[in-house]
Amino acid sequence: MCGIFARVAAEPVADTLIEGLKRLEYRGYDSAGIATLEQGGIARICTVGKVEALEAAVRSGPPKGSIGIGHTRWATHGAPSERNAHPHIAPGVAVVHNGIIENHRELRQGLSDLGATFRSETDSEVIPWMISHHMASGAKTMDALRKAGEDMKGAFAVAALTESEPDTLHALRRGSPLAVGFGDKGAALASDPNALAGFAREAFMLEDGDSAELSRSGVDIRNAQGEKVHRQIVTIDDTALTTGSDGYAHHMLKEIHEQPQVIQRILSTYGSTGSILGRLTFDFRRVTRITLIACGTSYLAASLARRWFQEIAGIAAEVAIASEFRYEPLAPVQPGEIAIVISQSGETADTVGAMHRLKERGIPVLGLVNQAGSTIAREADCHIPLLAGPEIGVASTKAFVAQLTVLARIVLAAAQRRGHSGVSILHSALVRVPDSVSAVLHNEPAVMDVAQRVLQARSALFVGRGHLYPVALEGALKMKETSYIHAEGFAAGELKHGPIALVDSTTPIFALASSGPLFEKCASNIREIAARGGRIVLVGDRAALLALSDVATHALTVPHCPDFVQPIISTIPLQLLAYHVAVQRGLDVDRPRNLAKSVTVE
Ligand code: AGP
Repeated sequence: MCGIFARVAAEPVADTLIEGLKRLEYRGYDSAGIATLEQGGIARICTVGKVEALEAAVRSGPPKGSIGIGHTRWATHGAPSERNAHPHIAPGVAVVHNGIIENHRELRQGLSDLGATFRSETDSEVIPWMISHHMASGAKTMDALRKAGEDMKGAFAVAALTESEPDTLHALRRGSPLAVGFGDKGAALASDPNALAGFAREAFMLEDGDSAELSRSGVDIRNAQGEKVHRQIVTIDDTALTTGSDGYAHHMLKEIHEQPQVIQRILSTYGSTGSILGRLTFDFRRVTRITLIACGTSYLAASLARRWFQEIAGIAAEVAIASEFRYEPLAPVQPGEIAIVISQSGETADTVGAMHRLKERGIPVLGLVNQAGSTIAREADCHIPLLAGPEIGVASTKAFVAQLTVLARIVLAAAQRRGHSGVSILHSALVRVPDSVSAVLHNEPAVMDVAQRVLQARSALFVGRGHLYPVALEGALKMKETSYIHAEGFAAGELKHGPIALVDSTTPIFALASSGPLFEKCASNIREIAARGGRIVLVGDRAALLALSDVATHALTVPHCPDFVQPIISTIPLQLLAYHVAVQRGLDVDRPRNLAKSVTVE
């Protein structure tokens, strides 16, 4: 996902624009650029690849301007290239943009007819030309930007720099996040409020339709009607963005190892039923059905929670992939129906779109979000923060485990509210999870050994049953997105219905199996695989490893624990496995190719 960072100060800003862009690298990108206002007008420097390349280009002839805009681009329209990198320029105007302009072709044609000359293949380049056109007709920058926004269809966050107003940055937001802030050193704006650390005392999240003018004396925020407004202040948590990976080789490894503390923080913050129920706008006693909606790894957390809600709280539940839910035919809304949307970033376009559809249908929406001040955190009817802390690695690890932990607490709170028994036993199982996760982390060398043995594999299969089936899917997703090995997850009982044809001696099969009601069934599925020469890596507790020692070529032990919490604990070795395979394959594990940390486009 693209990143925007812009600043107006009393000293040259080029270096701090680079610093700001480095704090946004985790979002995923393939080119970067800045534009500053110099004596002779707007100066633009753009490079393909990492921000370090841009830094070198800037250092070779440092701009002196004290106002500028910067951008990291995740290509949507047009390949990664210097020409397609932002900022984009028109006479007297420079612009950076995050989002997609759906009607850009029509706008481009109209602007070309008016004499615009385009250099790039991007949708974004229409914006500076629209602004320049309106300003040529006498509009001031903010009015010109607003008029451009009225003509654009789709989501955007835009920051603009103009020669005619050399002391002011102009911004407009619709659908893509933008935070603005002010401090002793001037004003700044960024796609992520945490990137404003050191440049602003506090950050304000713009809402859809908001515009902002930033100058050395302050920030002026207006709503869509042009009225001055004060927006929600969000805390700037700069720990991960400014302190790097704290001695770990990568953010992903640090975030995997932070998980015991994250779980502990969640369990102490949401330790009582009241601390959960007090945040809700609905009463679980009256809930008849729950739809859980998310994307990617968050969707897999939703898939596990579906089972928990049905089994422990006795509530009918279903899951939906957000991008499908947005457009599929839906049954009439039932009385007592609620929805839970789950998102680390709180900005995933598909999940935001699904939330909007739910709200249009009058269904109460609970948002589980990690990023404070994000769209879902602000627009859901109620929300529960995930408390995972900033997650910088593109592959979600601690946020996933935080989602599972928060969902487990919500399920227990719902069960208690509905008078179900056995809640305290399950809660005490949850309380022991941080120690169990720490034990798995101590076993990391064993995972590194297995990683060494499978890193040349061309594909890998992950199988699990019951509560461990979503974990198998998550293990496959982690492997795919960090090591680029083709990996697929299956319900263990499903393998014999086709996928078992994939089994041969070269394909590692990671089988999740721990003591529990479905162990025997899963064990026979695993034996079916072994009978066809499958190379089985067992991930399970000691009893399971003992029972299957004759068929597992390798094994990763996890602590024995109740079935309810085993999925959380069994996720950890698969996270470590994906990490170490990727590192041993020499890949950029924090920023895998083609991926973005939050996908704010459809
Ligand atoms: C997770 O490892 C992936 N990077 C991706 O699937 C992610 O979970 C998905 O894009 C949803 O993101 P969100 O939780 O921020 O909505």
